[in-house]
Amino acid sequence: MQHPPHDAQPPLIYLNNAATTWPKPDEVLEEVAGCLRLPLHEPGRTTGSGSRDYPSAAREALAAFFHAGPPEHFIFTQNATDALNILIHGFRKRIGMPFHAITTGLEHNSVLRPLTALEQEGAISLSVVPFQDITVSLAALKQAICPETRLVVMTHGSNVLGSVQDIRPIAEYLHANDIFFIVDGAQTAGHLPVDLSDIPLGAFVFTGHKALFGIPGIGGFFIADPDAVAITRQGGTGTDSHTLAHPFGMPMRFETGTHNYPGMASLCAGIRFITSTGLDAIGKKNQDLTRTFIRELRTIRGVTIYNEQPDLPVVSFDIAGIENHEAGFIMARAYNIITRTGLHCAPLVHERIDGGNGCVRASFSYFNTCDECRAAADAIREVAASADR
Ligand SMILES: Cc1ncc(COP(=O)(O)O)c(C=O)c1O
Repeated sequence: MQHPPHDAQPPLIYLNNAATTWPKPDEVLEEVAGCLRLPLHEPGRTTGSGSRDYPSAAREALAAFFHAGPPEHFIFTQNATDALNILIHGFRKRIGMPFHAITTGLEHNSVLRPLTALEQEGAISLSVVPFQDITVSLAALKQAICPETRLVVMTHGSNVLGSVQDIRPIAEYLHANDIFFIVDGAQTAGHLPVDLSDIPLGAFVFTGHKALFGIPGIGGFFIADPDAVAITRQGGTGTDSHTLAHPFGMPMRFETGTHNYPGMASLCAGIRFITSTGLDAIGKKNQDLTRTFIRELRTIRGVTIYNEQPDLPVVSFDIAGIENHEAGFIMARAYNIITRTGLHCAPLVHERIDGGNGCVRASFSYFNTCDECRAAADAIREVAASADR
């Protein structure tokens, strides 16, 4: 197989935004640098330092962005995985006896692994509802529900198929049936308007470093009723220090130790960037990028696209005659195009779409251009042509 020499490096094209967005808006970088330049202001813990109260500012920004409150019901964690672990294990602890839980075939391992661990302990029985086409319907979920069902954990947006689930009717049904609903919004937060005032779910999980344009190391969840989930961690909060019992008040009930202040600063600036640019404008740009890329890919012999009509800027594909990881490696080394290959931490999706082999995923963000999409497609055309020989 012949490939262009990699001594003349072409400009970097970053198409791995579903993993983590890059670049970050300038104002995010500036806010993080500004936060780190000053001593931390830890509200309730230290005397005033003159710098910003980032925990409160970030909670208020999230509450306004997701139309939910009070702000103290937004809890900060390390990332979406951490949030899902706190919620899933905390819910099980609160229930205290074996129950039935449901998840879907679209999930990321950050949902599948905590649930599987609980299943292996005998704490839950677990049903995995398959997706039809690229989504999971309320009708399919209803078929899995039984009198012992207490929990449903489901992704809002698939990181492989780019499909968005219609969570409102699902939330309404589960709420009416007293089933706790955790939504993994890792792929949708920052991409779509999410109005939590209108969706009666138990908890909504987000991560900072993807479409919210924050830095890695910050994520969290909104919880409507904090009493629905028991705490699984205890430690310092800077409050109620006279008692050895972990405080009950929100948000410290779920937050322990020193906060990720730069991460919170990045979230404030990321949300500000999204709001000032407009979610509509961001969505439109992402749609243009995705359509351009798919239109080009369709013309390439040997390319199979697994999601021709994604809701999110995520396109998964394979090239005949070449393993996905090799294709990704060549694109990175020879063309300086960064994609992601393999199973994308979503093994059940790949079991269905490509026999568990994995695929190449290109994912876009506001800072990509349609020219980059065309250049990436040209590279894929060359890789496909040489694989065909
Ligand atoms: C759907 C989905 N859920 C959860 C996660 C985990 O996010 P984090 O890396 O922030 O823990 C990801 C990350 O790729 C994801 O795509």
